[in-house]
Amino acid sequence: MAQLWGGRFTKETDALVYRFNASISFDKKLFEEDIEGSIAHVVMLEKQGILPEEEKNAIVKGLTGIREDVKGGKLEITDGYEDIHSFVEANLIERIGDAGKKLHTGRSRNDQVALDMKLYIRKEIIHVAEELEELLLTLIAVMEENVDTYMPGFTHLQKAQPITLAHHMGAYFEMFRRDSLRMKDIYGRMNYCPLGSGALAGTTYPLDRGYTASLLGFEGPTLNSMDSVADRDYIIELLSALSTVMMHLSRFCEEIILWNSNEYHFVEIDDAYSTGSSIMPQKKNPDIAELIRGKTGRVYGALTAILTTMKGIPLAYNKDMQEDKELTFDAIDTVKGCLSLFTGMLKTMKFHKEAMAKSAMNGFTNATDAADYLVGKGVPFRDAHGIIGRLVLYCIEKGACIDSLTIHELKAISPMFEEDIYDAVSLETCVGKRLTTGAPGQEAMKEALGAYKEFMDKSWLKGKHLK
Ligand code: ARG
Repeated sequence: MAQLWGGRFTKETDALVYRFNASISFDKKLFEEDIEGSIAHVVMLEKQGILPEEEKNAIVKGLTGIREDVKGGKLEITDGYEDIHSFVEANLIERIGDAGKKLHTGRSRNDQVALDMKLYIRKEIIHVAEELEELLLTLIAVMEENVDTYMPGFTHLQKAQPITLAHHMGAYFEMFRRDSLRMKDIYGRMNYCPLGSGALAGTTYPLDRGYTASLLGFEGPTLNSMDSVADRDYIIELLSALSTVMMHLSRFCEEIILWNSNEYHFVEIDDAYSTGSSIMPQKKNPDIAELIRGKTGRVYGALTAILTTMKGIPLAYNKDMQEDKELTFDAIDTVKGCLSLFTGMLKTMKFHKEAMAKSAMNGFTNATDAADYLVGKGVPFRDAHGIIGRLVLYCIEKGACIDSLTIHELKAISPMFEEDIYDAVSLETCVGKRLTTGAPGQEAMKEALGAYKEFMDKSWLKGKHLK
């Protein structure tokens, strides 16, 4: 049991207490960040004349060696240490002797862990944004191919008005674009360095916190040492944004599951993204979409857990905050996995365009346009609404649709109908004439697509890519 704080104690820690308190089993994920932060810290200590150059060099070499050995599999991070900070420091002292004992000068594990988490989250925000970018590009590709692919638009899961597949995909593009921008905002707000805040009240050593911050690529140092070690807002913001990503994915999955059903038959999920049944040979199930929908609960759970953990903690650092790690790591990995799988599923999915168009033609999706037609002939909208309502009822009784009625049948319901009604309520007209900004009409859709492509060209991720 390697600990950093034995001096004041006369008894050994109880074995169960040790295990309950230890975090190495999960904070080992922070090992590269811990070393990166430590290197920046000693470089600053040397610049400030707090640490001699030879010792700084020995520490940097020792830390770099630990990093290489762990990555190369020569050194294992075992449960014999309390946390990742103890592991790195103990190994450093083993390697370089007494100079290693100076690493922790002017630092506490409280500002150290705050830094490690920020470095980790900052990197992961980029990874999540990269996954979102791939999904956005995939959506653009689907949109470009389907500006003329008609399908029904729904409200209350009842057919409402005709739209296009491109338009439907565009709605998701907007959602995931906002998700990406949320990542950008969180990144910008959290990008201040807590190192040098000490346990809670700064330190008496003449640290140059601005220098450490710049070495680590932060905008600058944080400005209140108590807040620096007690702030987990950026984790809460991230988990909230990740929950929103999952909510969007889950809605999309729900639609794909419906569309993939025998009843809709709008899409077919590729074999590579489907699973079979152990008993029913005919089955091809959308398990991946269902699992993504299911995992949404897990990410929401992480958000609820951290909000609850943080709500009663007095300033400044308290050990409760160690609970921020497992659930955050899990949520990030879950979201990245779901995004990548979802994009793969979307890329390989087949759209049954004819089934979609056929579905758009049935179900009176052109009833609003029929009413608008009468308005065009001088009938007040409220009266037109009533006439078309009666027309729909007549069609339901006959098992017909508006455009399959004869002009005599139409005129019997309203003398205002003329031959041009057929063209006015065709799928092509219903969609093509919807040209308000953001509407599904081809010209409006092309304008939106232009804006989407420009958004991607000017991506905030440019220059920040890690992949
Ligand atoms: N494992 C701790 C955490 O994750 C590191 C900080 C420990 N600091 C302390 N004073 N016990 O929060």
